[in-house]
Amino acid sequence: MDLASHIRRVPDFPKPGILFYDISTLLAHSGAWRETIDRMAEAIRPMQPDLLAGIESRGFLAAAPLALALGKGFVMVRKRGKLPGRTVSHAYALEYGEDVVEVQDGMIERGQRVVLVDDLLATGGTAAASIELLRKVGAEVPAAAFIIELMGLGGRERLDVQEVRTETVLQ
Ligand code: PRP
Ligand code: MG
Repeated sequence: MDLASHIRRVPDFPKPGILFYDISTLLAHSGAWRETIDRMAEAIRPMQPDLLAGIESRGFLAAAPLALALGKGFVMVRKRGKLPGRTVSHAYALEYGEDVVEVQDGMIERGQRVVLVDDLLATGGTAAASIELLRKVGAEVPAAAFIIELMGLGGRERLDVQEVRTETVLQ
């Protein structure tokens, strides 16, 4: 199946000059969405994860069905202030200012193998920060999986530096 044809390209969103790859049309097509999840599951399975970690918010859409398909649990990596109880935070630099990702304390045991999941790899800033956070709480992060990889923005190279294997369905 030609999954790329199910991704809608929206020019000038969220800013003029940006071409936005919209997965809404992929999600809305049950066959294309199932195939996307099946392909990601087959790429992740050999990494033998104990858990998956999904990045808020669009990463949750893929991480939840992948966790069910692989028979593993799913942990949320969220933006600042969204998770109740004790959390562990990691701040990272943006073009202007900084952002923070968090996980709840106690969700991941030291040494567990956690595969990171998100919808899209662009500069890799979000994924790199999430990997640093997961490692801070003692996880091993052998791999990260994305539906879409935007080429030429350095995302894959950034994860290579972290010794994380990158799996993507569409480039
Ligand atoms: C988008 C996308 C990835 C990230 C990729 O999320 O879903 O998470 O940006 O960009 P990067 O590789 O340059 O870090 P966004 O922050 O737009 O939020 P959302 O998932 O909540 O829509
Ligand atoms: Mg996102």
